[in-house]
Amino acid sequence: MKNVVKKFPGVTALSGITFDILAGEVHVLLGENGAGKSTLMKILSGVHKPTSGTIILGGKEYAGLTPKDSRDNGISVIYQELSVINELSIQENLFVGHLPTKKLGFISTVDYTQMRERTKELLKKVGLNRDPETFVESLSISEKQQVEIAKALAADSRILIMDEPTTSLTSSEVAHLFKVVRQLKSEGKGIVFISHKLGEIMEIGDRVTVLKDGTYVGTKNVSDVTQDDLVTMMVGRQISKSYQHENADFSKAEVIFEVKNLSRRDGKVRNVSFKLHRGEILGFSGLVGSGRSEMMNSIFGAEPKASGEIYINGQKADCRKPYRSIKNGLAMVTENRRETGFFHNFSIKKNISILPFVKQSLCGGTVGLVSKERENEWAEEQKQKLNIKCYSTTQGITELSGGNQQKVILGKWLAADSKIIIFDEPTKGIDVGSKGEIYTLMRKLADEGKGVLVVSSELPELLAVCDTVSVFREGEIVATFDRKDATEEKLVAASTAEKGKEKKQ
Ligand SMILES: Nc1ncnc2c1ncn2[C@@H]1O[C@H](COP(=O)(O)OP(=O)(O)OP(=O)(O)O)[C@@H](O)[C@H]1O
Ligand SMILES: [Mg+2]
Repeated sequence: MKNVVKKFPGVTALSGITFDILAGEVHVLLGENGAGKSTLMKILSGVHKPTSGTIILGGKEYAGLTPKDSRDNGISVIYQELSVINELSIQENLFVGHLPTKKLGFISTVDYTQMRERTKELLKKVGLNRDPETFVESLSISEKQQVEIAKALAADSRILIMDEPTTSLTSSEVAHLFKVVRQLKSEGKGIVFISHKLGEIMEIGDRVTVLKDGTYVGTKNVSDVTQDDLVTMMVGRQISKSYQHENADFSKAEVIFEVKNLSRRDGKVRNVSFKLHRGEILGFSGLVGSGRSEMMNSIFGAEPKASGEIYINGQKADCRKPYRSIKNGLAMVTENRRETGFFHNFSIKKNISILPFVKQSLCGGTVGLVSKERENEWAEEQKQKLNIKCYSTTQGITELSGGNQQKVILGKWLAADSKIIIFDEPTKGIDVGSKGEIYTLMRKLADEGKGVLVVSSELPELLAVCDTVSVFREGEIVATFDRKDATEEKLVAASTAEKGKEKKQ
């Protein structure tokens, strides 16, 4: 790609980017939220036409690609938001658009036998042990992603673009993905890998190109740079790594939030109790599937609890339904932004102002007055506070880059002036610089006397921001550490240890 420019109304997303992909390499594309990574790749896949610039594929020059040009040239994308079709089987997903056919007299019919056999081969290659006729709906996120990769292989792609493929994967799933990526590399495929996780980039990348605000910063061999070099290229400055107060002691501070004996009927949460003190940030560590999100969903009333009581500022609070919880000042930044984070057909402004509206409304959120002025104020305030990159808050939320969508979600809960905020994987898809901003924001909220609870699978994140970390295992809190005693090793050990180990409260 040479001197590629892309202008959207109000923003120049790319201003003259040059980017190349070699056979048999993993080329990492790195940059802050809104830097233009996804847009550059959408130009390569034919979703967007560049405003100017050229694309050279197999020796031929194009001023812009159609999706068909892109496909015919062997380019496949595994999008940030997966694009498999839930209602179809795995094999149908792999061959949609190019179904194998056979002749029956005068007519052509779909050759299911061939489709099934080819699907089996491809699934084996990506390491997915499923029947080709399984419906995609029933697969986990990482399995869906494996289907997407198999789909790219079914189309015989030479270039695979992976846009943040690891945000929703566990560490063993990431290891598996990397195995597949290395295999593809050895077969001479060119891979573009977009990620905000620097550790991963160092592990899998061969070259790295950095973008900043739609401009080209540089291309380096990964083996020639350190993580700090990358951060400096991306952000233009070093980032501080700790957000705790030195030696803070919360044992005598007022308890602002308390959960007593919370259990669920499905056994995913069993008799959990904890306290959150004024000024403290409490984190929850544990393996994926250990029950942390289930606990938070039950606290918030999004999923039922069998028993348990919740106290906010010493008052028993009714949190049986999200509406009641919101009224009581509880907030929940959910893990899955696409499904439960925002309204796709709403503007940024409406997405932010819906919460303060619901909080003031009556009858379960159905009766209330909307003030256009207040809507604007709420949205503008959060745009400033969170540094949301958009040219107007009337833009549709889906026009924003992934990380900026996450900021809008945070913004709506802040606009509602929530007292206790549950952050479930708060920095999924957020770049390193903005991560720091979000940690600073969490600390500020805690200092202002708000309750901050964090669930995260990233141990460095918990250690950077939390004062206290509780470890979850099989639906129970099995250990609790003060920040000064916590290390990654101890947290991992506690989350994987056998039952019956001693716990410190
Ligand atoms: N369809 C669109 N209409 C208007 N603006 C858009 C559209 N798509 C992207 N943009 C803008 O282009 C810029 C680059 O966005 P892009 O999605 O490429 O960022 P990104 O580097 O992938 O960020 P992230 O890490 O958050 O995913 C952003 O300012 C975004 O708001
Ligand atoms: Mg993106």
